[in-house]
Amino acid sequence: MRSMFSLLCLLGFVLGFAFAAPAPRPANTVENVEKRSFKVERFRNPNFTGRNSPKQLMKAHYKYGITPRAALVEHIKRQEIAAAAIQARAVVDTKNRRKGGKHHHNAGAAASTAAASTKTATAAAAGATSATNATNIAAAAAAVSSDGVGSVINTPTSDDVEYLSPVDIGGQTLNLDFDTGSSDLWVFDTQLSAKSSTGHTLFDSSKSSTFSALKGASFFVSYGDGSQVAGNVGTDTVNIGGATVTKQAVELATAVSQSFVNDASTDGLLGLAFSKLNTVQPTQQKTFFDNLSANLADPVFTADLRHNATGTYEFGAIDATKFTGDMTFVDVNTTQGFWQFSSSSFAVGTGAAQAGAANQAIADTGTTLMLVSNDIATAYYSQVDGAQDSQQAGGFTVPCDATLPDLQIDVGGSMATVKGSDIVFEEIAANTCFGGLQAIDSDLMIFGDIFFKSNFVAFNNGNNTLGFATHA
Ligand SMILES: *[C@@H]1O[C@H](CO)[C@@H](O)[C@H](O)[C@H]1NC(C)=O
Ligand SMILES: *[C@@H]1O[C@H](CO)[C@@H](O)[C@H](O)[C@H]1NC(C)=O
Ligand SMILES: *[C@@H]1O[C@H](CO)[C@@H](O)[C@H](O)[C@H]1NC(C)=O
Ligand SMILES: *[C@@H]1O[C@H](CO)[C@@H](O)[C@H](O)[C@H]1NC(C)=O
Ligand SMILES: *[C@@H]1O[C@H](CO)[C@@H](O)[C@H](O)[C@H]1NC(C)=O
Ligand SMILES: *[C@@H]1O[C@H](CO)[C@@H](O)[C@H](O)[C@H]1NC(C)=O
Repeated sequence: MRSMFSLLCLLGFVLGFAFAAPAPRPANTVENVEKRSFKVERFRNPNFTGRNSPKQLMKAHYKYGITPRAALVEHIKRQEIAAAAIQARAVVDTKNRRKGGKHHHNAGAAASTAAASTKTATAAAAGATSATNATNIAAAAAAVSSDGVGSVINTPTSDDVEYLSPVDIGGQTLNLDFDTGSSDLWVFDTQLSAKSSTGHTLFDSSKSSTFSALKGASFFVSYGDGSQVAGNVGTDTVNIGGATVTKQAVELATAVSQSFVNDASTDGLLGLAFSKLNTVQPTQQKTFFDNLSANLADPVFTADLRHNATGTYEFGAIDATKFTGDMTFVDVNTTQGFWQFSSSSFAVGTGAAQAGAANQAIADTGTTLMLVSNDIATAYYSQVDGAQDSQQAGGFTVPCDATLPDLQIDVGGSMATVKGSDIVFEEIAANTCFGGLQAIDSDLMIFGDIFFKSNFVAFNNGNNTLGFATHA
């Protein structure tokens, strides 16, 4: 599960706050960090079965409050109807089973493969426009049933959709999704009902001797796709790979939406954007990194995320053995609270640099794909034989066996490279792969994990810069 802020929601909320200059912090409240650095491994979630590229693309739109392209909306609608149909069918099957019927379906697994059978999804969609309409669901279920989609079971795969890192909170270890596109540290906890928390590791504040409730404080993150997280807030000692912050605000979910519930391996999110995006009321709280950084040798963390491999986040130092050549540092524009920089040109392969339509972008580990203005995506895929802007898939697709050119793209005035091999993302049909580079209709482009696979990235909140270099 990715964090999916609706930027509009968030900005409205953020504007309600006055931002004080950071107060000086007592040095002794952050332990063991002087002149040291701390690493935490970031592993691919082996149990994540929800891979679904168009959905990842849709989530990114929702996260930033951007209107998706019509083809994407249509595609997602078809998926949802097919998924609802499968759910409906599973209900029918359950009834059948009770009656001694022999059908057997795994609704969850089948729903996550709904996208794979676009033909069926379309057939189901033909007779239905709303997945919430019972009549439609029944009709869709019948259509899907006759096509046999419900029997398709998704095999869990190790892919690059979601990454988790272990975090120790008051002596309890949870797997959190590190997200440089948001600023709340929230966890699944024992206040949640069994129904909302099954399969997750829950934080139990009553078992932590260092936990202290922040009386009257609450948080509420509203996601554009309708999913939400809300709860109350406390402080506790948070330890990430040895970097320890006492009195770190830890937000305890009392309500989470279904999409988080379903993703059983993620026990919460750890936001690494600027504290001005934190949603705690009535007093906004600082991120783990903000609390930590004044006492780090260097107020920096790095993201070393790789294709199909374990990655590392390191706090406090930039490990020169992790990259080749020089690291390029560019200015970060903190106005909106993101790791944002200017980005006004690009080049495809060895082609000449050209101006792009958008002029700002952010570095976001919490978004799977790399989302650029339509002119860049179009120019890029025009150089790939067999690439299509597919209405059916809801985005750009390429033949999986195509050799893609590298993309050069402006990051704060310097060109960064995204390798063509990192842009082939997910096989959605025979030799048809969803592209890792997709279009977003916004002035703010989002450089997600596809960008990070090609670049070792440093986030410095001491001089508000972003550094990037080629992985060693
Ligand atoms: C559900 O959809 C059917 C067919 O499109 C329509 O006739 C019916 O009025 C809808 N019901 C509701 C409650 O929207
Ligand atoms: C994945 O599932 C297996 C089996 O249920 C479990 O042992 C393992 O801890 C899970 N991994 C994560 C990261 O949740
Ligand atoms: C961390 O941030 C909170 C505010 O969210 C503050 O009360 C606390 O003192 C900070 N801890 C450190 C060690 O800076
Ligand atoms: C990912 O890594 C595993 C094991 O390290 C390997 O078997 C698999 O082929 C790799 N997948 C891709 C797409 O590179
Ligand atoms: C900084 O970001 C804001 C908000 O996106 C934008 O309006 C402004 O032009 C940016 N400043 C620079 C110098 O790019
Ligand atoms: C910012 O800090 C990094 C070290 O983290 C340093 O290498 C870089 O030169 C600094 N950039 C500026 C513009 O001060």
